[in-house]
Amino acid sequence: MSREKTITLTINGRAEQASVPPHRTLLEALRDLGHVEVKCGCEKGDCGACAVQVDGLAMDSCLTLAWMVEGREITTIAGLGERDTPHPLQKAFTDGGGIQCGYCTPGMIMAAKSMIDRNPEPSEEDIRIGLSGNLCRCTGYTKIFEAVEEAAAEMRGAGGKS
Ligand code: FES
Ligand code: FES
Repeated sequence: MSREKTITLTINGRAEQASVPPHRTLLEALRDLGHVEVKCGCEKGDCGACAVQVDGLAMDSCLTLAWMVEGREITTIAGLGERDTPHPLQKAFTDGGGIQCGYCTPGMIMAAKSMIDRNPEPSEEDIRIGLSGNLCRCTGYTKIFEAVEEAAAEMRGAGGKS
């Protein structure tokens, strides 16, 4: 028998309440709250599609219990930018062809943001390592790595490739 508890999650700067049993994952709780921008892939930590930032650190939400992150700052891809004012990562992925079907993209971008936040000038190897927990079955990765490099340059004010 599972007991539910009402918890408050801070998602993209807004407090939202969810009634969840102890085994409910953050991924399930987010999607139940309508945050379907967080993608559900393998549900076992292999694909990274479900990655969100928790207090600025990328985490697989399918491996995180919702109860564990009560009171922490959760950021999803929807918290990064708006359609008219996209985050540099969103813009670089879109402009540079780092998106095909798009299913991996929210997790890719959240993992990339977490890496750039800690390492504003990542080498190609840093980018490959930083995204090693995220799988893409469409792009072949090259355009994704280029987009991350471009966005990192933009974010540190160095401008991207023209
Ligand atoms: S759905 Fe979480 S890692 Fe694949
Ligand atoms: S763009 Fe389709 S899985 Fe990455």
